[in-house]
Amino acid sequence: MSRIVRFSASLEEDLLDRFEESTRRRGYGNRSEALRDMIRDSLVREEWEGDQEIVGTVTLVYDHHTRELADRLTGIQHDHSDVILSALHVHLDHDNCLEVIAVRGRASAVQRIADALVGTRGVKHGKLTATTTGRHIR
Ligand code: NI
Repeated sequence: MSRIVRFSASLEEDLLDRFEESTRRRGYGNRSEALRDMIRDSLVREEWEGDQEIVGTVTLVYDHHTRELADRLTGIQHDHSDVILSALHVHLDHDNCLEVIAVRGRASAVQRIADALVGTRGVKHGKLTATTTGRHIR
Protein backbone atom coordinates (compact mmCIF):
# COMPACT_ATOMS: atom_id res chain seq x y z
CA MET A 1 0.00 0.00 0.00
CA SER A 2 1.40 3.38 -1.01
CA ARG A 3 1.63 6.30 1.35
CA ILE A 4 -1.41 8.57 1.24
CA VAL A 5 -0.59 12.15 0.35
CA ARG A 6 -2.80 15.22 0.42
CA PHE A 7 -2.81 17.83 -2.29
CA SER A 8 -4.90 20.84 -3.09
CA ALA A 9 -6.36 21.78 -6.43
CA SER A 10 -8.15 24.78 -7.87
CA LEU A 11 -11.26 24.63 -9.99
CA GLU A 12 -14.39 26.60 -10.79
CA GLU A 13 -16.99 26.59 -8.04
CA ASP A 14 -19.82 25.34 -10.25
CA LEU A 15 -17.62 22.50 -11.50
CA LEU A 16 -16.88 21.50 -7.90
CA ASP A 17 -20.62 21.68 -7.08
CA ARG A 18 -21.41 19.35 -9.95
CA PHE A 19 -18.62 16.99 -8.92
CA GLU A 20 -19.90 16.84 -5.34
CA GLU A 21 -23.44 16.26 -6.53
CA SER A 22 -22.25 13.41 -8.75
CA THR A 23 -20.14 12.00 -5.90
CA ARG A 24 -23.23 11.88 -3.66
CA ARG A 25 -25.45 10.45 -6.36
CA ARG A 26 -22.99 7.63 -7.05
CA GLY A 27 -22.81 6.77 -3.36
CA TYR A 28 -19.19 7.67 -2.67
CA GLY A 29 -18.43 8.23 0.99
CA ASN A 30 -16.25 11.23 0.22
CA ARG A 31 -14.78 13.07 -2.73
CA SER A 32 -11.29 11.62 -2.26
CA GLU A 33 -12.68 8.19 -3.09
CA ALA A 34 -14.53 9.53 -6.12
CA LEU A 35 -11.41 11.32 -7.32
CA ARG A 36 -9.25 8.20 -6.88
CA ASP A 37 -11.65 6.19 -9.02
CA MET A 38 -11.71 8.88 -11.69
CA ILE A 39 -7.91 8.94 -11.79
CA ARG A 40 -7.76 5.15 -12.05
CA ASP A 41 -10.32 5.16 -14.87
CA SER A 42 -8.24 7.67 -16.71
CA LEU A 43 -5.08 5.55 -16.19
CA VAL A 44 -6.88 2.46 -17.50
CA ARG A 45 -7.87 4.41 -20.61
CA GLU A 46 -4.28 5.54 -21.09
CA GLU A 47 -2.93 2.01 -20.66
CA TRP A 48 -5.49 0.82 -23.14
CA GLU A 49 -4.60 3.45 -25.71
CA GLY A 50 -0.86 2.76 -25.32
CA ASP A 51 -1.45 -1.00 -25.62
CA GLN A 52 0.15 -1.43 -22.22
CA GLU A 53 -0.42 -4.31 -19.86
CA ILE A 54 -3.89 -4.36 -18.39
CA VAL A 55 -5.69 -6.63 -15.96
CA GLY A 56 -9.36 -7.41 -16.01
CA THR A 57 -12.14 -9.94 -16.16
CA VAL A 58 -14.17 -11.48 -18.95
CA THR A 59 -17.69 -12.35 -17.82
CA LEU A 60 -19.67 -14.91 -19.83
CA VAL A 61 -23.16 -16.33 -19.55
CA TYR A 62 -24.01 -19.39 -21.60
CA ASP A 63 -26.23 -22.45 -21.76
CA HIS A 64 -24.12 -25.50 -21.05
CA HIS A 65 -26.48 -27.64 -23.15
CA THR A 66 -25.22 -25.90 -26.30
CA ARG A 67 -23.22 -28.57 -28.07
CA GLU A 68 -19.45 -28.40 -27.48
CA LEU A 69 -19.68 -24.81 -26.25
CA ALA A 70 -18.08 -25.43 -22.85
CA ASP A 71 -15.26 -27.37 -24.55
CA ARG A 72 -14.67 -24.58 -27.05
CA LEU A 73 -14.50 -21.95 -24.31
CA THR A 74 -12.07 -24.09 -22.30
CA GLY A 75 -10.00 -24.68 -25.45
CA ILE A 76 -9.63 -20.93 -26.07
CA GLN A 77 -8.49 -20.45 -22.47
CA HIS A 78 -5.89 -23.23 -22.73
CA ASP A 79 -4.56 -21.72 -25.97
CA HIS A 80 -3.90 -18.46 -24.11
CA SER A 81 -2.67 -19.61 -20.73
CA ASP A 82 -0.19 -16.69 -20.77
CA VAL A 83 -3.11 -14.24 -20.54
CA ILE A 84 -5.73 -16.29 -18.68
CA LEU A 85 -4.97 -16.20 -14.96
CA SER A 86 -7.93 -18.01 -13.47
CA ALA A 87 -11.56 -18.87 -14.09
CA LEU A 88 -14.55 -19.04 -11.78
CA HIS A 89 -17.47 -21.17 -12.94
CA VAL A 90 -20.91 -20.82 -11.37
CA HIS A 91 -23.81 -23.13 -12.28
CA LEU A 92 -26.53 -20.46 -12.20
CA ASP A 93 -29.54 -22.69 -12.77
CA HIS A 94 -30.53 -25.82 -14.70
CA ASP A 95 -29.38 -24.33 -18.03
CA ASN A 96 -27.12 -21.37 -17.44
CA CYS A 97 -23.48 -21.07 -16.48
CA LEU A 98 -21.69 -17.91 -15.43
CA GLU A 99 -17.97 -17.78 -16.02
CA VAL A 100 -15.68 -15.03 -14.74
CA ILE A 101 -12.20 -15.22 -16.24
CA ALA A 102 -9.32 -13.14 -14.88
CA VAL A 103 -6.94 -11.86 -17.56
CA ARG A 104 -3.66 -9.98 -17.71
CA GLY A 105 -1.71 -8.95 -20.78
CA ARG A 106 -1.26 -6.34 -23.48
CA ALA A 107 -4.54 -4.54 -24.12
CA SER A 108 -4.68 -5.72 -27.74
CA ALA A 109 -4.05 -9.39 -26.81
CA VAL A 110 -6.60 -9.31 -23.99
CA GLN A 111 -9.18 -7.69 -26.28
CA ARG A 112 -8.60 -10.32 -28.99
CA ILE A 113 -9.06 -13.22 -26.57
CA ALA A 114 -12.11 -11.59 -24.94
CA ASP A 115 -13.65 -11.11 -28.40
CA ALA A 116 -13.03 -14.79 -29.20
CA LEU A 117 -14.69 -15.91 -25.94
CA VAL A 118 -17.64 -13.51 -26.10
CA GLY A 119 -18.08 -14.17 -29.83
CA THR A 120 -18.20 -17.95 -29.48
CA ARG A 121 -21.50 -19.16 -30.87
CA GLY A 122 -23.94 -19.86 -28.05
CA VAL A 123 -22.58 -17.32 -25.55
CA LYS A 124 -25.64 -15.34 -24.48
CA HIS A 125 -23.81 -12.36 -23.10
CA GLY A 126 -20.24 -11.45 -22.38
CA LYS A 127 -18.18 -8.47 -21.42
CA LEU A 128 -14.57 -7.51 -20.82
CA THR A 129 -13.95 -5.21 -17.88
CA ALA A 130 -10.49 -3.70 -17.67
CA THR A 131 -9.00 -2.31 -14.52
CA THR A 132 -5.58 -1.34 -13.21
CA THR A 133 -3.43 -1.52 -10.15
CA GLY A 134 -2.00 1.82 -11.27
CA ARG A 135 1.49 0.32 -11.19
CA HIS A 136 2.02 -0.31 -14.89
CA ILE A 137 2.06 3.30 -15.97
CA ARG A 138 5.36 4.27 -17.57
NI1 NI B 1 -22.15 -24.67 -15.20
